[in-house]
Amino acid sequence: MPQRTLILGLESSCDDTAAAVVLNGRQLLSNIISSQDDLHRRFGGIVPEIASRRHLEMINPVIDEALAKAGVTFGDLEGIAVTQGPGLVGSLLVGIATAKALAYALDLPLVAVNHLEGHIYANFLTGAVIVFPVLCLIVSGGHTSLLYMQDHGEITVLGRTRDDAAGEVFDKVARALSLGFPGGPILEKLAQQGDPSLITFPRALMGEEGKLDFSFSGLKTAVLNFIRREKEKGASLQLEDLAAAFQEAVVEVLVEKAFLALQKYPVRQLLLSGGVAANGELRSRMRRRLAEAGVELISPPPRLCTDNGAMIGAAGYYALRRGRLATPDLNAVSTLGFEGLQL
Ligand code: KG4
Ligand code: ZN
Repeated sequence: MPQRTLILGLESSCDDTAAAVVLNGRQLLSNIISSQDDLHRRFGGIVPEIASRRHLEMINPVIDEALAKAGVTFGDLEGIAVTQGPGLVGSLLVGIATAKALAYALDLPLVAVNHLEGHIYANFLTGAVIVFPVLCLIVSGGHTSLLYMQDHGEITVLGRTRDDAAGEVFDKVARALSLGFPGGPILEKLAQQGDPSLITFPRALMGEEGKLDFSFSGLKTAVLNFIRREKEKGASLQLEDLAAAFQEAVVEVLVEKAFLALQKYPVRQLLLSGGVAANGELRSRMRRRLAEAGVELISPPPRLCTDNGAMIGAAGYYALRRGRLATPDLNAVSTLGFEGLQL
């Protein structure tokens, strides 16, 4: 590979149209994200049809802006990386069709990136020196997974959610309170003013039985029932305390499970990413707890925790280095999990 390898990373798996130019898998030259939050807000969640139509409108301008901001042209690129899945199939297809057309027209290698792999590689854009093996915790709107990464291309799943993802529960709770979408940042802000000790919500699978798996549906039901009961009583909900108690339950489970994984896999670094990793309380609690065990927390800045094209470009660079090329018949796989991770 050339000394200066520029990859264009494209991400359109959900409701963000994103493109970025990444140098040698490590350095961000540009990172453009066109968010659709405004479009979906009034529905309290993502409407797939609306998402794919907006991707179609935005993908070319977003790519143009990413190149312009990086100060490069199509001719400077060494490869195109695109999210293959998991995600909404109509949304994924917009990115994939665009990536295939560009790779063909520019005669460039095409790399298919698993969205979860992308979230891991956001950590490689932090400037931190990452020394394998490491543990990775991905907490997003669609996933909550604990992984052991021995090297590029060598990832073992240690645990995952058995039902809802942590981010999904943030979104559902915010929706039940008519607070808007996405729920994570809104609830985090409220929680800063609240007292988490006034309400106790359940923490699931904390014993031996669940080991490194997660379960958040019981917490979701408990919070939604609490809201319903308080409304029925005509009580005025203390939103700040509710948000703080809910966030506390999520953070505690995530920190404890990461700690449990460390006892079995004594690594020196833990990589925390995915949309929920933008949460300040989670980051600071995780950092403090890991420091007690002499483990370094690596986590991307919030803008690289949520979906972006840069993480796809970074993952694409390392995949390309190992010769992992996609063929022109590349298709979207909406359910692609870690089992489908071609490393
Ligand atoms: O990684 P991401 O952008 O998309 C998926 O791959 O799912 O994650 C989006 C999720 C949403 O559920 C959103 O509510 C959550 O990340 N999120 C947060 C915060 N910022 C985003 N959750 C908690 N605290 C935040 N500050
Ligand atoms: Zn994501």
